[in-house]
Amino acid sequence: VRTENTAQGEDGLTYRPLGQANQPRPDQPGAADYAADPLRPQYHYTPYQGWINDPNGVIKWKGRHHLFAQYYPGAPKWGPMHWTHADSPDAVHWQQRPVALTPPPPSTPGDQSGIFSGSAVDDDGTLTVAYTRFTDTAANPGATPETVEMATSTNGSDFTPVSGNPVIPQPPPGSDAGFRDPKVFKDPLDDKWKMAVGSGHEGRGKVHLYASDDLRDWSYTGVLAEGESAETGAMWECPDLFRLGDKWVLLYSTNEGGQSLQRYAVGDYDGTTFDADRHGVLDGGGDTYAAQSYQDDDGRRLMVAWMSDWSAKEPTRVNGWAGAQSIHRELFLTDEGKLGQRPVAEVAELATGDPVTTGPRTVTEPWKLGSARTARLRTELDIGASTADTFALRLHSSSAEGTELRYEKSTGTLTLDTTDAGYGTARTWSTTARPDKHGILRLDILLDRSSVEVFAGDGAALTARVHPRYEESQDIVFTTTGGDLRLRSTSRTPLGSSWTS
Ligand code: FRU
Repeated sequence: VRTENTAQGEDGLTYRPLGQANQPRPDQPGAADYAADPLRPQYHYTPYQGWINDPNGVIKWKGRHHLFAQYYPGAPKWGPMHWTHADSPDAVHWQQRPVALTPPPPSTPGDQSGIFSGSAVDDDGTLTVAYTRFTDTAANPGATPETVEMATSTNGSDFTPVSGNPVIPQPPPGSDAGFRDPKVFKDPLDDKWKMAVGSGHEGRGKVHLYASDDLRDWSYTGVLAEGESAETGAMWECPDLFRLGDKWVLLYSTNEGGQSLQRYAVGDYDGTTFDADRHGVLDGGGDTYAAQSYQDDDGRRLMVAWMSDWSAKEPTRVNGWAGAQSIHRELFLTDEGKLGQRPVAEVAELATGDPVTTGPRTVTEPWKLGSARTARLRTELDIGASTADTFALRLHSSSAEGTELRYEKSTGTLTLDTTDAGYGTARTWSTTARPDKHGILRLDILLDRSSVEVFAGDGAALTARVHPRYEESQDIVFTTTGGDLRLRSTSRTPLGSSWTS
């Protein structure tokens, strides 16, 4: 099967050919298949060929982590959606599984009907998924555009639709912006199955809630949550409600005015409605969307997000693929009551060598820590003792280009600047990151060939896709302006491939 790069040059840019384009997909793409592509993340899930967006059906099932995703195999752009599938013993090493859900053939050319986002649960040993059946009404006039269907698998690989589909044949009243992305969970408050479905009404996002005893017969409970104004988005996509510590968290995604945002709310839930104490944006970077979480056997709440967004240029299209999933992250509530995240501890399993470490150091002029395209960088910045107000870490950099992570001490602003990063979106992204009570700011940074994920010690995060133009753009350099930067320590660990075969 060969796929044309139909999207090449769509954004008016000419990309240099990067090799490895349009190869037939092997059954089990492995590390070697991905090594040659300079923009291919080595330890983040990407489609061998075609397009992915939202993570779907994330679950730990029978000892393995399962990751499904919105997938179009035919071209590196959105099209009739399938669910691709991979699984993992540790949430960082992946094995490709057969495509889990495939839509029926289009009724007419251009019919975009497909299988939209959804979730997975373990029904007494049966892996059960709930998903949105999307019917393109331009090609199928009069159809209901979005309904909920389910499918089951006993081997974790082959799925059969349930006989009662669609289990929810139409949206409830007050769903004018859409009705999709069912997230099913076992409610600890009444031991029933619950399903949260994203929607919106009259310019405000909302989430509907359903309940079931048997996972097939669903009754409408009412509105679980809704936005107070248009400011939090007109359509809440990909809702996800779960308990975290003594609070409840609602994840939802909004996409407006060219800006995709992964939002969250922390609050209380009584079995029917969620009452938010606070709303926030989970990741200050531009490339975290449609996050979905699950409970690991050890109690950790893990989350993965689409590491892109609806306005991204996706320069990797020239190589026949587009879209990546974030690293798996562990969620926690911060001392301030915000939702924080850190990479899963298993990221350490990706190391291919010992960390290169340095001790205390005062940086007064550019200091190169090393060169790497795939690495974990950890540093402790002694903000209290530094005299400079602004300092930076240049990543994926050379004299020609680079991504800059800046910190402004007076405001506590952490900024990821991709204006000179190469192909792709040129912008600055910011969040607030506070040093600890000893004045130390810890940063944990995951670099992959076309991504940067920054995690601050207080739980703040910034994620962006960056697409260097030049192979030599690998330098990691600390810089400072108007004073010195005191580093307490740095460590740089080489990371290898996620692909086991
Ligand atoms: C979110 C989303 C979902 C939908 C899917 C379609 O990115 O728009 O609401 O189910 O993508 O691919």
